[in-house]
Amino acid sequence: MNQNKTLLAGTMGWPVKHSRSPLMHGYWIKQYNVNGKIVLLETRPENLEKELKTLAARGFVGTSITLPHKEEALKYIDEVDRLALRVGAVNQVVVNGKKLKGFNSDVFGFMENIKGITVGTAMVLGAGGASRAVIVGLQEMGFSEIRISNRTKSRAEKICKELGDDIKVVDWEDKERRLGDIALLVNTTSLGMAGQPQLEINLDGLSKKAIVTDIVYTPLETAFLKQARVRGNKTIDGLGMLLHQGRPAFKAWFGIDPEVTDELRAVVLAG
Ligand code: ATR
Repeated sequence: MNQNKTLLAGTMGWPVKHSRSPLMHGYWIKQYNVNGKIVLLETRPENLEKELKTLAARGFVGTSITLPHKEEALKYIDEVDRLALRVGAVNQVVVNGKKLKGFNSDVFGFMENIKGITVGTAMVLGAGGASRAVIVGLQEMGFSEIRISNRTKSRAEKICKELGDDIKVVDWEDKERRLGDIALLVNTTSLGMAGQPQLEINLDGLSKKAIVTDIVYTPLETAFLKQARVRGNKTIDGLGMLLHQGRPAFKAWFGIDPEVTDELRAVVLAG
């Protein structure tokens, strides 16, 4: 690698200016004194193929992929990693010679954020794109049973069909009745995010030993997490998932596995 050449990595999305990814990678670039630069690649859906296929020629070492391209990008990647294939979405691309390699580090981010917890039965609320990465993460971690509950049941059933027999669909109206024996409760819906309605759930039936986590991180403590904390459950906020998912990309592009620190959390939160 030519040490004098600034390594370019992208953040690709549409729109992309609200992404916190450049902030995170920019912080690490400075922290580790890397000769790198993050370039915003505002990419309309109709230009996705061209943008991806010309990355190498334009001197990029890779790019993050954000909404709405995570699923569509799979089509244009030469080598897709096992977990990305399972999730059906790519959020990180690495240029390897003339080829593109695609990964899904949301799975890694989710797993790192809850690392060390006791596995058992998990309940996942929501069946959107984020839910799939969370479920694959839970399977990788060895959770024995995964329950999924979503307002639109058919979306939960689709995930169940695609991702395996260890997943059981719970009616949205019944979710409170199925909390008694779970070790982990995860919100993957957009409820609780600033500007969205709150996630309404009665946690009376939840064991005090269960861990509660949210993938929403704006606000850092959602009403859902607060409700769980106040009744005595350990909670894990969603910011860690975002920050940890950035690590494999930074490592692949710049050769350093960066650390997730309180200072980084503060920088990204201040956004
Ligand atoms: P993403 O792919 O980013 O996860 P998404 O596909 O829009 O986004 O998923 C959002 C999730 O939040 C879905 O599980 C959605 O439920 P539906 O599949 O029924 O739409 C859930 N969600 C959003 N608003 C909701 C609401 N008011 N009540 C219950 N669930 C809601």
